[in-house]
Amino acid sequence: MSHVLLIATTNKGKLDEFKLYLKGVVECSGSGEPLDVEEDGTTYWENALKKALRFYETFQRPVLADDSGLEVDVLGGAPGVYSARYGGADLTWEDRWAYLYSKIEATGAIGPHTGAFVCVLCYYDGLNPPVFFQGKASGQVVQPPRGNGGFGYDPIFESRLLRKTFAELSAKEKQTASHRGEALRQFSVWWKTKHPTA
Ligand code: IMP
Repeated sequence: MSHVLLIATTNKGKLDEFKLYLKGVVECSGSGEPLDVEEDGTTYWENALKKALRFYETFQRPVLADDSGLEVDVLGGAPGVYSARYGGADLTWEDRWAYLYSKIEATGAIGPHTGAFVCVLCYYDGLNPPVFFQGKASGQVVQPPRGNGGFGYDPIFESRLLRKTFAELSAKEKQTASHRGEALRQFSVWWKTKHPTA
C-alpha cells in the first residue's frame, strides 16, 4: 500500500473510524496540525467539498473529507448539517443532548422519535473532479443517553438495525451499522477499482 490518504477532520472519533474502516484498503492519516474550516454550507455535500478543497490546498495530498449529522424526523431533519453547533458552539455534549431533547419535547409529539445519521464523503486528489459517497443509518432518539463508546450524538441515538445506541456498539458493530461505515464501504469499492494493485 503506497498511498496515504489525508483525512480532513479534526475530530479524533471520526479519524479513528476512518483508520479502522479502511484498514487493508488504504492507509489513513490526520493532518498533524489543526485546520479549522468554516462549515457554512447548507448541505453535507457543500461542507464536505469545502473541507476537501481546503485540506488539499494546504497539505497538497489526496484528501478524504466527511460531513455528517443527525436528522430527527419530528424536527424536520434538524439538526442535520448544523449538528456540530446545535444549540451553540460552546455547549458540552450533555448540554447539546438536553437541548435536542427540549426541542423534541416542544413539538409535543409522542415517540418513538425516528431519524437517521447521515454521512457524505468527498474524495479529492487535485487532478480529477471530486467524488462523493453517502451513507445513512436509521434509528431513534433515546432518553436517557446510553453507552460509553463513540462520540457526539452516539449515546442518544439507537440503531434500528441493532437496537443499541451507537455508544453501546462495539467498534465492529458501529462499522456494520453506521452511516460512515456504509459510505466508507462504497468508497472502498471505488478505491479498489482505481488502485487494483495497491
Ligand atoms: P461535522 O461533520 O464535522 O459537521 O460534524 C457533525 C456533527 O455530527 C458533529 O457534532 C459530530 O459529533 C456529529 N456526528 C457525526 N457523525 C457522528 C457519529 O457517527 N456519531 C455521533 N455523532 C456524530
